[in-house]
Amino acid sequence: MITVRAPGKLFIAGEYAVVEPGNPSVLVAVDRFVRVELTPSVGKGSIHSEQYGRQPLVWYRDARGIVLDHDMRPVDYILSSIETVEQYVSERAIAPRFYDLSVSSELDDVSGRKFGLGSSAAVTVATINALNQFYDLQLTPRQRYKLAMLATIAVSPHASGGDLAASTFGGWIAYSAPDRIQVLRLREARGVAGAMDADWDGFSVRRLTPPSELQLIVGWTGEPASTSRLVDDLRDRRWAEEIRYSDFLEQSRHDVEGLIASLDADDAEGVKRAIKGARRTLSQLDAAAKVGIETPALARLSDTAEAIGAAGKSSGAGGGDCGVVLASHDADLSGLLREWERSDIRHLALAVHPSEGGL
Ligand code: MEV
Repeated sequence: MITVRAPGKLFIAGEYAVVEPGNPSVLVAVDRFVRVELTPSVGKGSIHSEQYGRQPLVWYRDARGIVLDHDMRPVDYILSSIETVEQYVSERAIAPRFYDLSVSSELDDVSGRKFGLGSSAAVTVATINALNQFYDLQLTPRQRYKLAMLATIAVSPHASGGDLAASTFGGWIAYSAPDRIQVLRLREARGVAGAMDADWDGFSVRRLTPPSELQLIVGWTGEPASTSRLVDDLRDRRWAEEIRYSDFLEQSRHDVEGLIASLDADDAEGVKRAIKGARRTLSQLDAAAKVGIETPALARLSDTAEAIGAAGKSSGAGGGDCGVVLASHDADLSGLLREWERSDIRHLALAVHPSEGGL
């Protein structure tokens, strides 16, 4: 049996703007994981995951490729990951085989509510890592990220893939997304392996050094958020309300580049300034678009951080889920944590998952 795991992630800055190819963001991987166990099987394969309920999803192969044993085809990252790797395997003339996958996640609480730590990305990366071992493909982290990106955009063409990069490479990273239209066309024209070999416009990923004088504190609002709903709403309103989107992109780039420069210089004050700037930039966007990025709970989470000289903001799409705080190691957190408890914000004790290498 093969057992692998992939970590969850948090956005530190650059959300929404990162959806546009080439716009920078900063993310971090955290030490909570999605696990995938793979057992070889014969004649058919299966996927056991809570998302399918008690019944596993059973799959076979026919001339069309992977087929399911029932009509309902879920919109699904695991299946898309399998199909993408299987296409790669077939292009490389490797004999296809069957396997059972079993998925378990630490990225939700005991009652199954998601924390918003990028579970779809982590399950995609973990599935690809398991198949990389099973078929002995010896893919580098960059190639695995590219496979994960191909699998993801087949399901969700607008996703930036920042969460995939954090989950693949670990640690702190600076990330900008590829042009997904180009990537989809590459897959169509050259197959999966050909698309992976090509350069992707806009894509870049770079290792960052964590700020030595700051700690990361994560608060979970307990409010479930839908990234696709928020991103779609923003896209609709952007046109309807003539939001000055290019100003937002420029401001976000300014904040994130400031953050990256401060991380490179290990300048704690600069890091906090950039995070506060990124919070303001998202608020200005939301004041025009009104999609509800910074909910009242996320505003409280960030205000209590600023009140103790730290910096805090929503992480990811906002609308609920988590917020991040960067505070100096000697900051007095007792008041902040008391205020969070009063506001039903749960402190998630997460450490940064270290670099997996490959960058
Ligand atoms: C969601 O976690 C972050 C967004 O920037 C969307 C994405 O990056 O795909 C809002």
